[in-house]
Amino acid sequence: MTRNAAQWADLPRLPEDHYVNSRIYTDPEVFAQEREKIFARTWKFACHESELPLPGDFRTLEHAGIPVVVVRGPDGTVRTFLNACSHRGAQLVTEPRGNSRHFTCFFHLWSYDTKGRCIEITREDGYKQCKLTKDDCGLRSVRTAEKLGLIFINLDDDAEEFDSYAGNALDDLIEPMGTQPMEVFHFHRVLMQANWKQWHETNMELYHEWGHVVNRTTSVAAGGYHERKWKIHPHGHGSLDPLKVEYDKYKGWEGRQDLTLPGLSPGEFRVVDLFPNTTIIIRATTVRIDTSIPIAPGVTLLEQRGLGIKGESSTDRAQRQEHHNQFWGPFGRNLAEDVVFVEAVERTNRHGASRYGIIARHEDLMSQDDEIMRAYYRVWGKYMGASAANPLNKAAHREAHREVA
Ligand code: FES
Ligand SMILES: [Fe+2]
Repeated sequence: MTRNAAQWADLPRLPEDHYVNSRIYTDPEVFAQEREKIFARTWKFACHESELPLPGDFRTLEHAGIPVVVVRGPDGTVRTFLNACSHRGAQLVTEPRGNSRHFTCFFHLWSYDTKGRCIEITREDGYKQCKLTKDDCGLRSVRTAEKLGLIFINLDDDAEEFDSYAGNALDDLIEPMGTQPMEVFHFHRVLMQANWKQWHETNMELYHEWGHVVNRTTSVAAGGYHERKWKIHPHGHGSLDPLKVEYDKYKGWEGRQDLTLPGLSPGEFRVVDLFPNTTIIIRATTVRIDTSIPIAPGVTLLEQRGLGIKGESSTDRAQRQEHHNQFWGPFGRNLAEDVVFVEAVERTNRHGASRYGIIARHEDLMSQDDEIMRAYYRVWGKYMGASAANPLNKAAHREAHREVA
């Protein structure tokens, strides 16, 4: 089959913010720049405070390629540090989670407390001559903020405060997540063959609800579904007017009348998308938090959490878990379907079979309007200094088209 150069073109008939170039998902240079220009500068969801209930509880993660450790100190405060020993830089904490009063580096056995202070230097006298002391060798701290039990970190000491970064984007979560203490009851990771933004898009673009069997019946066909509107917040965040999902329409999934979280009516659905890669979704009785760790342009490690009310009875918890697991978790209907969706897109992008994605729907900001994604990519473009339609320089871009034509 002869390739027609025009067919490979980047949709010149559309305004530049109405489509994205597939290279934003596949190009190693774009990926490297995202780490430096976005992930190293924006607030990243790290974990829920209930995952660190006791002094000394810690979790490790990687952010923008940098290993960090989040730990609750003896004073109850959650702090974050670069997970790198101050001596020769060995990764200090190697377990994904645990509890410890101090961290001892396995290389030359320097030790640190949970406030990041260096408390032990092996044969410290050897440093007397150059006057290096423990006080000089604490762990490098990372900015940490807590909101509604959600813990966020930022590698950039000069970044704006979390409250100003989030603005009003979290307002819809204040009642359901801020009235009673909550806790994580479900945690799993999915290593998917897709770019991190493709996952975030599935959480933003509700047009794809047509692809979810259950959503077609319980949501898209529900009264008021198309009329509710997106709220586009500064900094690339978005939230959506609530919807009453009609669970009773799907046989076997009826009866979500009980255990509704504070401030919601039975069946109510809310969603908040936070730039660049965190989404909080509430389905009346249970909360899901998605956040991803970009591994490579086409490889993403998704972390997914499920939350319920702390201290509730085992009967209530079992019911809430069932509600959660019907849609989410490894065997939930929607999560598995979403992985199939994004991996299908990634497969064609990877080898240049698909060169763009269209985000051109206009529906007066109602549910399936793509403005939420256009707003997201405008912010992405500001951080990157290039539009998502043309993420690399134009000359190189044209050259690439000639190669395949
Ligand atoms: S690198 Fe950690 S003690 Fe030497
Ligand atoms: Fe989905």
